[in-house]
Amino acid sequence: MKITVVGAGAVGATCADNIARKELCNELVILDIKEGVAEGKAMDLMQTATLLGFDTRITGSTNDYAKTAGTDVAVITSGIPRKPGMTREELIGINAGIVKSVTENLLKYSPDAIIVVISNPMDTMTYLALKSSGLPKNRIIGMGGILDSSRFKYYLSTAMGVPATDLQAVVVGGHGDTTMIPLARLATYQGTPVSNYLDTETLKKVVADTMVGGATLTGLLGTSAWYAPGAAGAALVESIVRDEKKLYTCCVSLEGEYGQNDICIGVPVVIGRSGIEKIIDYKLNEEEQAAFNKSADAVRSMNAALENL
Ligand code: LAC
Repeated sequence: MKITVVGAGAVGATCADNIARKELCNELVILDIKEGVAEGKAMDLMQTATLLGFDTRITGSTNDYAKTAGTDVAVITSGIPRKPGMTREELIGINAGIVKSVTENLLKYSPDAIIVVISNPMDTMTYLALKSSGLPKNRIIGMGGILDSSRFKYYLSTAMGVPATDLQAVVVGGHGDTTMIPLARLATYQGTPVSNYLDTETLKKVVADTMVGGATLTGLLGTSAWYAPGAAGAALVESIVRDEKKLYTCCVSLEGEYGQNDICIGVPVVIGRSGIEKIIDYKLNEEEQAAFNKSADAVRSMNAALENL
């Protein structure tokens, strides 16, 4: 098994670190355009192998895609990250060109790769990767909802004083501060509705905090977050390479599901060895479906900006 992570920034390096610790492959390539950075991060990570006990071979490459040949799963993290006060959407002009060329280069050497897109604005970058590559829709997966759901569980756990791992909660819709939809009605604490434990006001605050979860971190860190985004990317890779068939919210191409067409947006999907294996219908109520439609409209208008680039 061979995995490539494109982009040796904080998200890419953290993702690679998690992939190595979990030994998801025997060969892991990190690629970056900045001379020496991918090689340096690969070497640094390799020097943790005896400390952490993994046998994955990690190598770095400065923009030489030949070294990625035969990749089974590729994770695209390249592009510029958010600065405080910036939305994910403001990155579109620069990141679109990067994501398109990275996708082309990867597929030149690994025509069968499954691609996980992390670069922002993620929903639009996933749509771009899908349209520009012409790949079947099961092989392009955007990483967003899995991260946002993890943040939702974090804020719920903090409000309830319980471990996040005792909670089930999902965020669907776009991966944007105003487009994501934390599904409070369906959130449970070991099978019981969280509304049994939290009053309406507190639950509303948890939802609002979740929606700006990424922006809050950007404000604190001065750049966008990396531990949870990197771990979320690795969790998706794990479900693919181990054929776990885990249910995660991912940004995928819809053809009528959730009432939408010609869009990539976050819905619950089963992730296995062939990538996206099944879209699960959560049977949204009227209010949730209306929010989903509104989110889709916003994502679609962002996708329209691709035409003017
Ligand atoms: C975040 C970035 C990765 O939400 O979109 O932290």
